[in-house]
Amino acid sequence: MSLVKLNEILDAADRGGYAVPAVNAYNADTVIAMLEAAREARSPIIVQAYDRLFDSDKEYGVLHNARAVAAITRELAADTDLPVALHVDHGTGTDTILRAIRWGYTSAMIDGSTLDFEGNVALTKQVVSMCNTAGGLPVEGELGHVGSARSGDEATGALTVPEEAAEFVRLTGVYALAVMVGSAHGRYKLPPKLNIGRIAEIKEAAGVPLVLHGGSGIPDDQIKLAIKAGIRKINYATDVISAYYEPFRGKAYDDPIWVMAPDNFVIEPIKSAKEFIIDRMNLCGCAGRA
Ligand code: 13P
Repeated sequence: MSLVKLNEILDAADRGGYAVPAVNAYNADTVIAMLEAAREARSPIIVQAYDRLFDSDKEYGVLHNARAVAAITRELAADTDLPVALHVDHGTGTDTILRAIRWGYTSAMIDGSTLDFEGNVALTKQVVSMCNTAGGLPVEGELGHVGSARSGDEATGALTVPEEAAEFVRLTGVYALAVMVGSAHGRYKLPPKLNIGRIAEIKEAAGVPLVLHGGSGIPDDQIKLAIKAGIRKINYATDVISAYYEPFRGKAYDDPIWVMAPDNFVIEPIKSAKEFIIDRMNLCGCAGRA
């Protein structure tokens, strides 16, 4: 079927009290892993591309990975009966959002979380307005900055304040909100400890589907409690990448794997990433919902 909008997937998750993994895609392999996982688990899925993939012409000529990811996702999703949304992750500005609209993305995140409150509201509002004009694409904003685990931000970042979250949603019209509740991107140095009470307070105040960034490495019991408290979209990148590379770990330089045709070379990595994503779908409670 055609790609769906984020609200179609997350409204159902809100009604059903479950969450849906949003997995970062980089190329055909990672999209295939996600769609195969969704097919096997009968689950909705959110395919998302980082802002930097919208600008990959800096690295090699005029090609854009985000455009390739869009084309592959659209083409492969059309062969299934599964709800698949195509989302921008950590959009930094209107250039990315314009490209996303042109290339068929069905929702977008704009990340103004490093700006002050007024600056974040102004940028997010501008993107919501663009996305409304472009046919009502739902927008995810971020309030309270989710940092990088590399810098130890998980221990120090200020949590999202419920009243500010409510005000931010009211002023910007975002459909979903990414919140800082104790998670961080990448490999945690210290065991993460989500503030579950804060998630419930933000949900109560803001009333929109909440997004948890930095899903990799968060223990299963905390994920379950976070979903109960109102998290509806959980972002996974690091653990999926790690699962993808797992079959190659420890292979010697002269292993025949290194001269395999690239389509054969990626069979085991795709399977390994797919299994990890299915595991997350089961944990998030979205398996069997498609
Ligand atoms: P992880 O790499 O920690 O899973 O975070 C992914 C993410 O939040 C993408 O926006």
